[in-house]
Amino acid sequence: MKCSDEFSALKHSLMNTLQRNNGKEFMPVTRNTKNVPYYLLGFGAFASLGGMVDARRGRESGGALFYLDRFFRDAKLSLPARAGDKVVFVDTSSEPTVENIDSLTGEAKAYFGTKAPCCVTGIGGGSVLDTAKAVANLLTNPGRAEDYQGWELVKNPAVYKIGVPTLAGTGAECSRTCVLLNRKRGLKLGMNSDFTVYDQILLDPELTRSAPCDQFFFTGTDTFMHCFESLRGSYRNIIVDRLSETAVGLCRDIFLGPDDMKADGNLENMMVASYLGGMAAGNTGVVHPVSAALSTVLHLPHGKANCYALSALGDFYPEERALLMEMKAKNKIDMPEGICRNLPDDRYEALYQAGIIHENPLSNALGPEYKEILSRDRLVSIFKAM
Ligand SMILES: [Fe+2]
Repeated sequence: MKCSDEFSALKHSLMNTLQRNNGKEFMPVTRNTKNVPYYLLGFGAFASLGGMVDARRGRESGGALFYLDRFFRDAKLSLPARAGDKVVFVDTSSEPTVENIDSLTGEAKAYFGTKAPCCVTGIGGGSVLDTAKAVANLLTNPGRAEDYQGWELVKNPAVYKIGVPTLAGTGAECSRTCVLLNRKRGLKLGMNSDFTVYDQILLDPELTRSAPCDQFFFTGTDTFMHCFESLRGSYRNIIVDRLSETAVGLCRDIFLGPDDMKADGNLENMMVASYLGGMAAGNTGVVHPVSAALSTVLHLPHGKANCYALSALGDFYPEERALLMEMKAKNKIDMPEGICRNLPDDRYEALYQAGIIHENPLSNALGPEYKEILSRDRLVSIFKAM
């Protein structure tokens, strides 16, 4: 069902109910929306993780399952793991694929046996947070990861899960999706479901301090992209607009303000922007489909792919492109040009197909005639301009 169809159906059913109840017409302004029920924000918040995990332990369930970015294999991080728990270091050199998720789920099931883990904790950037969400869904739902790529396909509540971002910007800590690459089907799509939302998140800005500057920038600007694309689209509501405006303002302060982008205040602001932007994310525009094509075909990491995409989309987003270029120059971020030049024809065809497949964001940005506006030649010339 398309986003707009789903919204019409919801509106119709709510109107019927309320008309029966009091004869007055009800016009919903938003969908019935689920957010993360608990969050804790502040420097040092990570110290609360042990108590939160322990509160989930019980005789009926297995130990705790932790997914950590492999970066933390060497870094000092005091993990509240006990005997019987399982700690998995996730390779984040490429984005999570449906095959990775199936394999990690199989390993977890083999380890915990008939008892499901008492909770799943994801500690890392967007890839690790999404990995933990996807596995938590698959531990209580039969089948494979690709069976749930889409909207409202997850039928059973996931295992309780805690998200701890160590990079801020993707909004994965509070979004209702977990983005997975499916190279066989040439798509990048998540399990969009209320069951995918974390039950608890810990937002500790200190954890983002050690991120390399370019990674901090590329991840942080993902929030900028989600929010301006939402504000420039046609699928809007007043809450998402206000969240997006606030997050875009924070991004401008962080990346263009007088302080270093990694000053204490900016580390905290970036956590807040990512959280607000994550709640607003969902209705993207042209940047994310073009970015998804770069990730699917050329394996570019998401945040970097966004920046390359917007760098070539000045016709659609002139002000935002100029802002991004200003942010990039101020923070001395290197983006060598020519990443899509002189590719064989079949690569350009693959890039076109992997971009144009994203009907919802493209119609949000360009309307139902998006395939005419973004013809094959035009899209290929956008890739060649990067
Ligand atoms: Fe994104």
